[in-house]
Amino acid sequence: MLAEYRQLSTDRSARPIPLVDLEPLHGEVADELEQAWRRVSASRLFVGGPEVDSFEQAWAGYCGVRHCVGLANGTDALALTLQALGIGRGDEVIVPATTFVATAEAVILAGARPRFVDVDSESLLMTAESAASGLTSRTAAIVPVHLYGSVVDMEGIRRVARRAHIAVVEDAAQAHGGSWCGQKVGSMGDAGSFSFYPSKNLGALGDAGAVISNDPNLIDRIRTLANHGRSNNGWHDHALVGRNSRLDALQAASIVVKLSHLDRWNTSRREVAERYRDLLAAGCEIVTRPSPGRVHHLQVIRVAQRTYMRRALRARGIETGVHYPQALHLLEPYEQFCGEALETSEEASREVLSLPIFPHMSSSQVERVCESLQEVMGEFGAIRSA
Ligand SMILES: Cc1ncc(COP(=O)(O)O)c(C=O)c1O
Repeated sequence: MLAEYRQLSTDRSARPIPLVDLEPLHGEVADELEQAWRRVSASRLFVGGPEVDSFEQAWAGYCGVRHCVGLANGTDALALTLQALGIGRGDEVIVPATTFVATAEAVILAGARPRFVDVDSESLLMTAESAASGLTSRTAAIVPVHLYGSVVDMEGIRRVARRAHIAVVEDAAQAHGGSWCGQKVGSMGDAGSFSFYPSKNLGALGDAGAVISNDPNLIDRIRTLANHGRSNNGWHDHALVGRNSRLDALQAASIVVKLSHLDRWNTSRREVAERYRDLLAAGCEIVTRPSPGRVHHLQVIRVAQRTYMRRALRARGIETGVHYPQALHLLEPYEQFCGEALETSEEASREVLSLPIFPHMSSSQVERVCESLQEVMGEFGAIRSA
C-alpha cells in the first residue's frame, strides 16, 4: 500500500511539499478507523471504557512495560507524572533548554521549578554531563527528551539519577517506537510520557497522551489525579484534588488502529532520512544522534540565514518548520528560571530548520527538497559574495 502510494505520488511531484502530509497515512487506514468509530458509537462508552483499556494494554505491551494510563494530552502526562511522584513546591526538575515548551510547562504545572541545562552540540539532546551540571540540593527529577525522534543515552542519565537518588521521567512525545539497546523509549526511566498529537509518529485524531511505567502504584495515582481524584470506592468518592485529563474512547480506538502500522511507518521514515543523508548538499549539517533505534520524527538541519532560506524554499513550494526558534530559558515567562547562558541551545535556536518528513514521502519529493535547498544555498552564496 505504502509502496503503491509512493509510486502514485510521483505524479504529484509539482505540488507543494508540506512539512507533514497526513492525508495518505489516513487514507491507508480509513476503513479500519471507520470500523473502530462505529464500534465506539454503538458502545455508547465515550470516555474511558473497553477501548481505553485495550489501548492501555496494547501500548504497555508494545513498549515492553507492565502498565499504561491513557490521558488527555502529553503535557498533562508529564505534569501528572511529576505530581504523582510527589514532586512540587520547593523542588527543581532538570529539563533541556532545547525542546518543545510543554516539557518545562509541565514542571511548573506540577508546582516545581524547571532547571534548564544545555544539550549536545551534534544531536541537541540532553547528556549525562549536562544533566549532572543542573543538580542542586533541591533537584527531584530529570526529564530527558528524545527530541526529533533521536534517543538520549539513558544509561548515562540513569547513572546520574541513581547517584542523586532522584527520579527519571522520559519525555518520549517525539519518539514513539524508538529504542536504545533494545529497550523502547519511555520504558527506561521511572516513567515515560507520550503525546499522541496527530502529527506525532503515532498520532490520534485529536489530542491524546499516556504514561507508561512498571510501577503500578504510580500509574494508579496518575489515574486517580486524572479522574477528578476519584478513588476506587465510587463515582462521588474523591480521595485527592485531581483534574479531568481522561482519554476518550474515539482517540484510544484510533491510536490502536494506527499502532499496528507504527513499525512500518517508522521504517519508511528511516528510508526517507537515509535518502536525505545521501542527497543533502555538502555543507548541510544534519541534526541527529546516529543510533539504530532513532525514529526520525523531524528532519532537522542547521543553516545560516534561516529566514532567507525559508522564504526562498516556500517560493519553490517547500514548506519548512523551526523546532524551536527560542531556547526555553530565554522565553519571557521562563526567564525567571534562567541561570547561566546555555550557548549550544541558544546557537541552535538561531540555525535549526526542519525539512518535510512523513512516512509516505516519495523519493522524488525528497529529491525536490534537496535540489531546491541546493539552489537556495547557491543563490545565498552568490548574494553574499556579490
Ligand atoms: C517534546 C514534547 N513534549 C511534550 C509535548 C506535549 O504534548 P501535547 O501537545 O500532547 O500536550 C510535545 C508536543 O508536541 C512535545 O513535542
